[in-house]
Amino acid sequence: MENVVLRVARSADAAAIANIFAHYVEHTTISFHDTPPTIASWTGQLEQHGGRYPWIVAVDADDVVGFAYATEHLPRAAYRWSVNTTIYLRDGLQRRGVGRTLYQGLLASLRGLGIANAYAGITLPNAPSEGLHRAVGFTLVGIYDAVGFKHGAWRDVAWYRNRLASLETPAEPRAFQDASAAELARWLSPP
Ligand SMILES: CC(C)(COP(=O)(O)OP(=O)(O)OC[C@H]1O[C@@H](n2cnc3c(N)ncnc32)[C@H](O)[C@@H]1OP(=O)(O)O)[C@@H](O)C(=O)NCCC(=O)NCCS
Repeated sequence: MENVVLRVARSADAAAIANIFAHYVEHTTISFHDTPPTIASWTGQLEQHGGRYPWIVAVDADDVVGFAYATEHLPRAAYRWSVNTTIYLRDGLQRRGVGRTLYQGLLASLRGLGIANAYAGITLPNAPSEGLHRAVGFTLVGIYDAVGFKHGAWRDVAWYRNRLASLETPAEPRAFQDASAAELARWLSPP
């Protein structure tokens, strides 16, 4: 999709995000939710954690067609250079390069903020997601076997990691909301 652009997500995107995500909750085991989060809960998430970590959307002619964001990996202070990442596209728009574009913007933003590690948990099987994560630099850490039960069966989750910075003593990570307009323009432009 040639005309797709990336921008920072806004709370007004909650309805589109809820709609994209609901398909995967209801029809797949990709997400471990059992009921789709409401628009109000997405609005709350966008308002609460959108300031600290990147939350970006892919837009085609004003239509949100996908989203990617990072969340805290775990709450203890020493984990603050590590995040979990998530990506979803509207069903039917796969394999047109949007996932790669979104992840490039997300990872450039995380690097720019001083994050050292991005982790992604992928319910197996999911060849498109494993393929995308490998294509943008993630490598397999290990598999949590039978860690979730959904749609009548135990599900394995493969954990992947992308090392985004060298492992010297790190500077404090910055918050996404403190990025300048020039930084955002650089991070969210296609390479
Ligand atoms: C996973 C997902 C985000 C991938 O996005 P996408 O736009 O389809 O992927 P792209 O077209 O950008 O592909 C980028 C690379 O990923 C890999 N890839 C994508 N789809 C693949 C597939 N079906 N099989 C194997 N590798 C695949 C390839 O390396 C591809 O590069 P190439 O096209 O040059 O070969 C998308 O399929 C999706 O939204 N899936 C449902 C939700 C989901 O699984 N989210 C991840 C949760 S862990």
